[in-house]
Amino acid sequence: MATTAPAPNVTMRARRGPYIVEDWDARIFRVNREVFRSPEVFGRERRLVWDREWLYLGHETELPKPGDFKQRALAGRPLMFVRDSRDRVRAYLNACPHRGTILCRETEGNSKTFQCFYHAWTFANTGELVGIPDAGAYPPERSFAETMGLREVPRVENYRGFVFVSFDPSVRPLVDHLADARDYLDLMIEHSERGLEVIPGTHLYGIRGNWKLAVENAMDGYHFSPTHITFVEYLKTTGYVTSDEGGRAHTLENGHCVIVFSGHGGRVGVQWEPRFGDPAKGRTEENVRSIAARLGEERAKRIAETSRILYIWPNLLLFDIEGLAARQLEPVAADFTDVRAWELAPAGETAEERMLRIRILGSFIGPGGLATPDDVEAYECVQRGVVATANDPRPNVDWSDISRGMERESQGEPARSVDEAGIRGFWRHWDDAVGAGAR
Ligand code: FES
Ligand SMILES: [Fe+2]
Repeated sequence: MATTAPAPNVTMRARRGPYIVEDWDARIFRVNREVFRSPEVFGRERRLVWDREWLYLGHETELPKPGDFKQRALAGRPLMFVRDSRDRVRAYLNACPHRGTILCRETEGNSKTFQCFYHAWTFANTGELVGIPDAGAYPPERSFAETMGLREVPRVENYRGFVFVSFDPSVRPLVDHLADARDYLDLMIEHSERGLEVIPGTHLYGIRGNWKLAVENAMDGYHFSPTHITFVEYLKTTGYVTSDEGGRAHTLENGHCVIVFSGHGGRVGVQWEPRFGDPAKGRTEENVRSIAARLGEERAKRIAETSRILYIWPNLLLFDIEGLAARQLEPVAADFTDVRAWELAPAGETAEERMLRIRILGSFIGPGGLATPDDVEAYECVQRGVVATANDPRPNVDWSDISRGMERESQGEPARSVDEAGIRGFWRHWDDAVGAGAR
């Protein structure tokens, strides 16, 4: 083992528990498995992260017409994601201001008003209370109605179509939260001159696992070849050879992280690879030329020739590898997470490109593709496995190892995506936000 002294930036990082142990002299980075099991940790996360941070709600193109609405849930709260009749995108708490029942019980639809089934109060999609049966039993209707409109989520902001909410009225501006993750988000958005749109339809599935396992898995290039062996074998049949060596992990500000690698996928309209055949090649080359004409060679190269998996703390994962897939994490309990997932596409692509994109989604990152079921199996097996070591008093037993690549990193080498540097970045931020209070 090399004995080179750790680079100065890493010697500053030392953690001594109770949840994270980081020691660069010994090249140790460990996570105590209680973080995946404990209802107490889950409660603290809810209070310290989910009730305070910006959370991804949805994309504005999910609501193309005034009156469109969809039900959502974030931080355990039922929500309504609405484009109101004045064309404004809103987020309301889905609880009737009268006595608190779920107000909107349809998953999605289009309506100017929402009527509560319990006592039939009616609210405009712009928020006003517009109808009360037997209104004479209340104080003069106008002043009463003014205080009883739909309750908005305290903060809503839109970054280039991506709509985020926060339950903390004093949260910092969204762009400050996104910080240097914006650059990677912009690369996805600028893929098309006309921006992005969500392909209609939502995948909703539940994972019997802790939400942090989904983040670890997304930032983990190490698992790709063994876990997704079926996909790797399939790629070989197309003549495509994967190489992870060039991939890099970047820890970004505010808990975000990204892994960047040369494309192994067929990003429709931009990247070409043999499994999509020769006809795709000419079209994608033409698209790369047009991106270069619009944004310059360097930006076009980044958009076209690299793939990225971007994690926006705490609940959004963007897979810009094969098409562009978005996943929203909603922790339900320490051992259960709901996932909503969408496919985003450049607005205005041809019907042929759109079909190819859906095919690509189905083959790998979609819920029935060659990747996602493998990954879900991995999260669920970890959740089942980490129970085995609960309360085990022996040293090192109830701890997961996240040290891969520390030796390389400590010698000043860039962090690789097949190492665990991105996951370490995530855990450090988590520990500052949630673990610090337990020290
Ligand atoms: S609870 Fe909605 S009208 Fe009474
Ligand atoms: Fe995976």
